[in-house]
Amino acid sequence: MINKSMQDAMNDQINKELYSSYLYLSMAAYFEDKNLPGFARWMRIQEAEEREHAMKFYDFILERGGKVTLKAIDAPKTEWKSTLEVAEEVAAHEAKVTASIHALYELALKEKDYPAQVMLQWFITEQVEEEKNAAEIVANLKLIEERGTAVLMLDHRLGKRNGD
Ligand code: FEO
Repeated sequence: MINKSMQDAMNDQINKELYSSYLYLSMAAYFEDKNLPGFARWMRIQEAEEREHAMKFYDFILERGGKVTLKAIDAPKTEWKSTLEVAEEVAAHEAKVTASIHALYELALKEKDYPAQVMLQWFITEQVEEEKNAAEIVANLKLIEERGTAVLMLDHRLGKRNGD
């Protein structure tokens, strides 16, 4: 049977995963509004994954004879300054989730909860992938932004050209 501290920590994690889902759904809506269906699709897929993550904790608590307790989900942001800002926020958010998963793993070690350790290893691997994907998108967007700046610089230079 799952102990109380692990159960409480996993119930908190359900809330964090559902908040992630809500945040990504809000980002998907932002991209739809900006006519960027590809980015919106990326966020919708992320959103569905976060619900699956929440359900993994939900089912694990139940399988171990614990009690699932759902809490209020905070409202996510609805506006961002740019696509890059959204991607950077995804990357920062995933880093926070990773820290939270690692804290759960530390608790599982302390409590000698071996089934939780096995279950959490899946999440540890998953977070490596999630952070890598977000970092790649941030890097690509920065590259696009730099190229845009280079075009503007060239435009500026051409604008100064004498007509001879
Ligand atoms: Fe549930 Fe994106 O981590």
